[in-house]
Amino acid sequence: MSQSLSIRRVAGALGAEISGVDLSRDLPDETIAAIRGALVEHQVVFFRDQDLTPARQTAFGRRFGPLNIHPYVQGMEGHPEVMEIIKEPSDRINFGGGWHSDMSFLKTPAIGSILHAVDLPEWGGDTLFASQAAAYDALSPGLKATLEGLSAVHSASREYSAQGHSAQKRGAMQVAEADGYVGEYVHPMVLVHPETGRKALYVNPAFTLRIDGWKTSESKALLDYLFNHCRYEAFTCRFSWTKGAVAFWDNRSVWHFALNDYPGQRRHMRRVTVDPWPAAQAVAAE
Ligand code: SIN
Repeated sequence: MSQSLSIRRVAGALGAEISGVDLSRDLPDETIAAIRGALVEHQVVFFRDQDLTPARQTAFGRRFGPLNIHPYVQGMEGHPEVMEIIKEPSDRINFGGGWHSDMSFLKTPAIGSILHAVDLPEWGGDTLFASQAAAYDALSPGLKATLEGLSAVHSASREYSAQGHSAQKRGAMQVAEADGYVGEYVHPMVLVHPETGRKALYVNPAFTLRIDGWKTSESKALLDYLFNHCRYEAFTCRFSWTKGAVAFWDNRSVWHFALNDYPGQRRHMRRVTVDPWPAAQAVAAE
C-alpha cells in the first residue's frame, strides 16, 4: 500500500504533496511510516481531496501520537481534540494570523498539526510555512554556536491572557481567556530533531517572550533579528487550499501563518494537534 504513495516536492526549503492515499481509511503501519518519513524529510506534507469526518481525522492523528486538547480553544462537541478554526464573513481577526509554532507555550510542545479544509473562501486564505531548519542552516557558524548555548522563555500570555491582543477578537472561535497566570516554559533556542538529527531554530514571534536569563529589553534585538531572518522568502512555501485538502506540519521545525486576505468570506478548518509519545512508549516503539 505504501508503494502507491507518490510524493512531489513543492518548494526548495520544505513542503511536499502526497497523493495515492485515502486518509479516511484505517491505514496499514507501512503507510503511516511512509507518511511519517515524508513529514520529517519535507517538514510539511499536503494531501488533496480527503473526505475526513472529525472521528476519522482524530483516528488518523492518533497514529502519530496522543492528541492535544488545547487549553484555551474549545474543542468540538464530542471531539475535544478537534479544534474548529473558523472565520465568519463578519470577523476581522483570524486564528493563526501571524508566524508561530503551535503550542510552544506548553511544557511539552506539540510535534505536529493536521489541518483539514472544510469550507473555503472563493479566493485567499492560503497558509504559509517557513522551515526553521533552513533558517538555522543559513546562520553564521558564530551565531549558531552562540544560540546553541541559549534557551528562550515561551508563554501564551500575549495571545491568550485577558490582555492578549487577539484572544478577545476572534468572533466565531470559542477562545477562552487564560485565567490568571498562564505559565512560562523554557525551551532550547536550537532544537535537534529527534528523528533526523537536523537542527532548527525554535523561537517564534507569537509565544517567545525573552531569552532565558536575559531581560526582555536585552533579548529584543537578537529575537527581532531572528524573527526577521526566519521568515525569509527562500525558507518558505505556500499552500493554496482546496476543499478537503489536508496539511500536516512538523511543529519542531516549521513556522506557519494563516493569511487573512479574504474579507467578508467564510473559512472553516479543523485541526488536530499531535503530542509526543510519552517517553516509555517512544522507547517501546523503536
Ligand atoms: C493554525 O495556526 O493552526 C491555523 C492555520 C490556518 O488556519 O491556516
